Amino acid sequence: MILPIYLYGQQVLRTETEEITKEYPNLKELVANMFETMYNADGVGLAAPQVGLSIRLLVIDGSPMAPDFPECKDFKRVMINPEIIEETEETITLEEGCLSLPGIHESVSRAAGIRIKYFDEDFTGHDETIEGFAARIVQHECEHLEGHVFIDNISAIRRQLNKAKLNNIIKGTARCSYRAKAVGK
Ligand code: NI
Repeated sequence: MILPIYLYGQQVLRTETEEITKEYPNLKELVANMFETMYNADGVGLAAPQVGLSIRLLVIDGSPMAPDFPECKDFKRVMINPEIIEETEETITLEEGCLSLPGIHESVSRAAGIRIKYFDEDFTGHDETIEGFAARIVQHECEHLEGHVFIDNISAIRRQLNKAKLNNIIKGTARCSYRAKAVGK
């Protein structure tokens, strides 16, 4: 089932998230719905707050990025209660976007590589080192779990330049090709 994606301005994107246990109700179904929602919107990552849930869960499938970023080939993950435990000092600046901010693309500097601990949907623990664009996707999604969005990282001037677009997202008048939930609608 395709879930509505909560857009910028919605409080849930700013709300602290909670860890979950394997007893979380209908977890498998939720994970399947999140993948379906993400694929339908042509996204490569989706965090639970973006479907209105304040829990520490995210899904990723970086495959569409593989032609440009080979490290994204077969990079499909479900991450529950993820925790980035190491980051490289080296950073890379690249443009990114977010399904909760349709039409906005800005350059963001992120660690070139990370080490992360998380549980998959079967609650098997993982400790993984991830590099390149795959690491960027994970960092972007983990940020959602902290109540942040990627434009929090851009300069005040860049944010000012996006102000009209951001207001349209909040009002619900921004162009969006998928089912979404704006504050104004
Ligand atoms: Ni996002």
